Amino acid sequence: MAEILNAAELDSLLSEAGAADVATGEALESFRIAYFGRQGVLKSLNERFREVPREQKREMGQALNAFKDALQSLFDEASSALVAGQDAQTSGQDPTLPSGAVPVGSHHPLSLVRREILDIFARMGFVVADGPEIEDDWHVFSGLNFPEEHPARDMQDTFFVQRDPDLLLRTHTSSVQVREMERRDPPYRLVMPGRVFRNEAISARAHCIFHQVEGLYIDKGVGFADMKQTLLMFAQQLFGSDVKIRLRPSYFPFTEPSAEMDVYWGLKTEVDKRITKGTGWLEIMGCGMVDPAVLEASGIDPEVYSGFAFGMGIERIAMLKWQIGDLRLFFENDMRFTSQFTGG
Ligand code: DAH
Repeated sequence: MAEILNAAELDSLLSEAGAADVATGEALESFRIAYFGRQGVLKSLNERFREVPREQKREMGQALNAFKDALQSLFDEASSALVAGQDAQTSGQDPTLPSGAVPVGSHHPLSLVRREILDIFARMGFVVADGPEIEDDWHVFSGLNFPEEHPARDMQDTFFVQRDPDLLLRTHTSSVQVREMERRDPPYRLVMPGRVFRNEAISARAHCIFHQVEGLYIDKGVGFADMKQTLLMFAQQLFGSDVKIRLRPSYFPFTEPSAEMDVYWGLKTEVDKRITKGTGWLEIMGCGMVDPAVLEASGIDPEVYSGFAFGMGIERIAMLKWQIGDLRLFFENDMRFTSQFTGG
């Protein structure tokens, strides 16, 4: 029959455990079996605890619990030291080195082109302005001199949110021109990027949602030559300094005279012939001198101020820049497509 359990014995058992070899996985496992196992030290100590006389039970119970805790800490420390050592060894790597490349994603091609367009105009002093996508008739049509019966107001083109009073999804970013002219005093140079909506069948060349950048320059004595020079500089920075542009007479209700700007694309390949319809020229934007009636409608005196405006589709520019043949790719969010583009 073993001796009655006493504190001195626990002390010496603990110092024995403290000196045990726990440096390898095997040694630690033997330690675990010897102390925590089914026939281990703790088990027999628990059994002998039952024999402790009643009046010593409380004190011995506490001593035994402290012993168990100390033993558990010895085991835990040895086992984490072992794991840390193994990690360092098996990876064979310096944990202080930077980790490998982490995929960080990429910008959508339309964001890249929008940023590039805005950057070019920012260098010419144009400031970004923003306006709402849900608009009233005034800002999208009437304030821009669209006659009552103009076909662009038709249900066929415009998504209406509400009738009488009309609320609609803006069909162009020219609506932001009107808002800005109403709230600012000239002079100013603005670029206004945004999403626009038209009730059109979706195809490789058209979509019911697309993006535009609008421009507006109002000051004293602004002429057509200023517009042409500004747009030429823009095209040179976007497509390269040897780009050729031309302005063709056109019609927009809010500009007079109005023009469309083409860039020379060339006729080198069969594809070029198809996309330029055999002319070599590609239209990239509408532009013109702001109609005096439009200035007046927004409270600007056309006798004092004049200006030019322009509007371009971001998708169209992106398609030209990267020779993308199908507009729908921009909206499908297929990462095999969207991750191919880089800025600049
Ligand atoms: N808003 C026109 C469109 O969506 C584009 C446009 C043409 C904007 C001429 C202008 C402009 O500012 O002067 O087709």
